[in-house]
Amino acid sequence: MLRTPLSLDLLALDPQAGTPLYRQLYDALRSAILEGRLAAGARLPSSRRLANDLGVGRNTILAAYEQLAAEGYLEGQIGAGTRIAASLPDKLLEVGNTTTQGPEPKDAGSPVRLSRRGEAVAAIRRPGIGYERGQARAFQHGLPAVDQFPAALWSRLLARRARDPRNGLFGYETGAGFAPLRRAIAAHAGAARGVVCTPDQVIVTTGAQAALDLAARMLVDPGEAAWMEEPGYLGARAALVGAGARLVPVPVDDEGLDVAAGIALEPAPRLIYVTPSHQYPLGVTLSLARRLTLLDFARRADAWIVEDDYDSEYRYSGRPLASLQGLDRATRVLYMGTFSKTLFPGLKVGYLIVPEALVDAFRAAIRLTGHIPAPIVQAALAEFIGEGHFGTHVRRMRTIYAARRAALIDAATRELGAFLHLTPCEGGMQLVACLKNGLDDRRVSAIAATADIQVAPLAPYYIGLPRLSGLHMGFAGIPEAQIARSAKRLATALADTAP
Ligand SMILES: Cc1ncc(COP(=O)(O)O)c(C=O)c1O
Repeated sequence: MLRTPLSLDLLALDPQAGTPLYRQLYDALRSAILEGRLAAGARLPSSRRLANDLGVGRNTILAAYEQLAAEGYLEGQIGAGTRIAASLPDKLLEVGNTTTQGPEPKDAGSPVRLSRRGEAVAAIRRPGIGYERGQARAFQHGLPAVDQFPAALWSRLLARRARDPRNGLFGYETGAGFAPLRRAIAAHAGAARGVVCTPDQVIVTTGAQAALDLAARMLVDPGEAAWMEEPGYLGARAALVGAGARLVPVPVDDEGLDVAAGIALEPAPRLIYVTPSHQYPLGVTLSLARRLTLLDFARRADAWIVEDDYDSEYRYSGRPLASLQGLDRATRVLYMGTFSKTLFPGLKVGYLIVPEALVDAFRAAIRLTGHIPAPIVQAALAEFIGEGHFGTHVRRMRTIYAARRAALIDAATRELGAFLHLTPCEGGMQLVACLKNGLDDRRVSAIAATADIQVAPLAPYYIGLPRLSGLHMGFAGIPEAQIARSAKRLATALADTAP
């Protein structure tokens, strides 16, 4: 005959506590089981008796017993003949220090088991992203001047969509994206970048990163080869690694991706990631000859090209080359863009323009990945573009950024000439500084940080050994006066530390 090993002290319930009585009982019993104070197979008192003993309603006892039974801690008939489960998983019983409230603590010190892909993705660290103090720090790269964004206008557009739950924007998204936004994106990409597409080919995503993730997962099987620019964008590397791709680093020179070197390294890639307008991070433009060679190769190799056109709206002189996608007659190119640079990164809207043959599969897949921006945001953005605010904003920013860029070139030449020289580049939101006299970019970046200045080293963008020691110096989000002051401070820090 089994004893009832329950002491009423163990189950002291407090009616004044904020936690419901049944939950207090559940927590107490569960802890006793996990800590081994209630043995497997032991019999619990009937619900009626325990209710009497504890002076609470029988429903309180039944609710606690039922919850424990549902979770596998108890077996038998609830109310009478209830026992502690005979075969609690060993793992559960090892948790000796379970607290009675909240989630179970992780085993301190024991390694977390991730997939190999998960480990590889988690090991990739993006340098310096985000606004620590609400505005960009000199010389943070990749960040637009968010304080210049017409926020009052935007909030009106957003509020109008948020007011009426019957406007069709409160339900599930279908994966295709909000039709007026797709039309606006197709028109913009066509006019500004020579992209040839219909609105049906536009997939609206939560930023370019989501577009990269979707493309990588949909087009590459684990172990298949993907060309990656060397040095190249860490977000793209992470998406490809996450998809299990075998990365082939293909060198970049002053004509952009070295296609011939890529063919020699890996003649059968499934996917080729490229930033032709403004190579990330070096800023060079892929030459027309290389573009034609790349398209021809992709057609023959049956490879997909992912063209990341992340910041080509900003160009300060000369005419930009049109998109690679617009040159592509064999429809091998997936074109991606983002509003993170033209508007603000927290908007989390980007897009992928896929060849017609991929439309159905990508629309179906994006619903499963969940990389879809809120319909309310999509609708407000469609109106923002449709009413001409997008064009106005980009034009305004181009003027502001041109002045900031000139200020950076000026300050760097004046103050930092002993340590670095800026490489010429006609577009974007940052410049590349090549370090002189064998200075190490990681070390210079660490010294700059001591002076509260952020300059990202180029080294992490390389998969192999870095060929260039350089820095990313952003200017878009930083007013001219701050640029001048910060260049001086950086020069002092470098001179003092004599790296
Ligand atoms: C090369 C490149 N691609 C894409 C993006 C944009 O990504 P997202 O739209 O996810 O902000 C960035 C932003 O830093 C970038 O540098």
